[in-house]
Amino acid sequence: MNDSGHRLRLPRGLDGETFLRDYWQKQPLLMPAALPTQHFTLTPEELAGLACETQVESRLILEGEEGRWEVRHGPFDDADFAALPESHWTLLVQDVDKYIPDTVSLIETFDVVPDWRIDDVMISYATDQGGVGPHSDAYDVFLIQASGRRRWRISNRHYTESDLLPGIEQRILARFDTAQEWLLEPGDVLYLPPGVAHWGTAEGPCMTYSLGFRAPSQQELASEWFQHLVSLSDERRLDDPDDLRADSRAQLTTGVFLHAAQLLNELPDTHSDDFRRWLGRYLTEPKAQFEIPPRDPAWQHADLADCLQQGQTLRRHPFARIAWTVMDDAQVVLFVQGEDLTLPSFLQPMVRQIAERRLLEAEEIAPVIAATPKAGSLLLRLLNDGILEVGEE
Ligand code: SIN
Ligand code: CO
Repeated sequence: MNDSGHRLRLPRGLDGETFLRDYWQKQPLLMPAALPTQHFTLTPEELAGLACETQVESRLILEGEEGRWEVRHGPFDDADFAALPESHWTLLVQDVDKYIPDTVSLIETFDVVPDWRIDDVMISYATDQGGVGPHSDAYDVFLIQASGRRRWRISNRHYTESDLLPGIEQRILARFDTAQEWLLEPGDVLYLPPGVAHWGTAEGPCMTYSLGFRAPSQQELASEWFQHLVSLSDERRLDDPDDLRADSRAQLTTGVFLHAAQLLNELPDTHSDDFRRWLGRYLTEPKAQFEIPPRDPAWQHADLADCLQQGQTLRRHPFARIAWTVMDDAQVVLFVQGEDLTLPSFLQPMVRQIAERRLLEAEEIAPVIAATPKAGSLLLRLLNDGILEVGEE
């Protein structure tokens, strides 16, 4: 069971395995009454309050007459909200999970999908008929109806850039062929794989949570990997091969190609340990605004022991991105906020717990530390790095 004590209720006949096999990244799935509504505690006023903070990314999208759309960027103030019309607008706030701890327990309910892919929880508040218009996203999304009702339409068509409305930064399709539509009520969830065009329209005021996932493009991966290779390369230069010919001085001989290739082949390839470590670091890299400051003053082992003795809970910092893997030599690597930590294989159960859970109870950790002091050192390090914090939800 996850920390929130709830799991996403998949439709009858589906379990986590079948969801991953038949739907995840493949086809849409409507999940009626998939979540208890007690997860949705945030009020529209609180969401508007977040949108007034400078560090929070927010947008207002208004639909005017004859399909004229307007996008405004936060931070907003009370006067901005007071001047809005009665209907046809929506407020969207990104990364709410980083600021509102309650949202973290909602993420925990989605415990069948790869945790390391999760990007953020975006929350929208829409007035009647409000929405962001028809569009498709490049990543998976769970659209979670939190309050009020929203009509979702999806299309079977594959739209391209040329189908977008010109002259507006928001990606809105100029036309949309509806294949299916549903009216979502609080607690209903609609899963959409990348690229499925969708169109949500509020029927009365409503709030929708979007659990969004990361999907780096080939271009992004290539650019980051090659940058890493450049950082590993040295000052050696191309030297001349043995097959130079005095009678053909401008010819690039086979040896020249071989020597150039050799210089490059000395850099790690995508089958190397280096690549696996790089990928883990890259996938857990936080956005710049979500760096975590270290604990100050740093804790000693005795502080950790005291805290566990008092029955305190260790909680993952809401900014922390974590993943883990096992290398060919059986060493375990924990990836945290774009860094890799190599650990002995006997720590695998603890590493897994840290990577898969957001709350760790004292009573489950204390015996592990008693049996394996290295587990205590790992926790202490993560506490001092700010990745784990002490305290209740
Ligand atoms: C919304 O909450 O209105 C937007 C969600 C989406 O279409 O991705
Ligand atoms: Co979307």
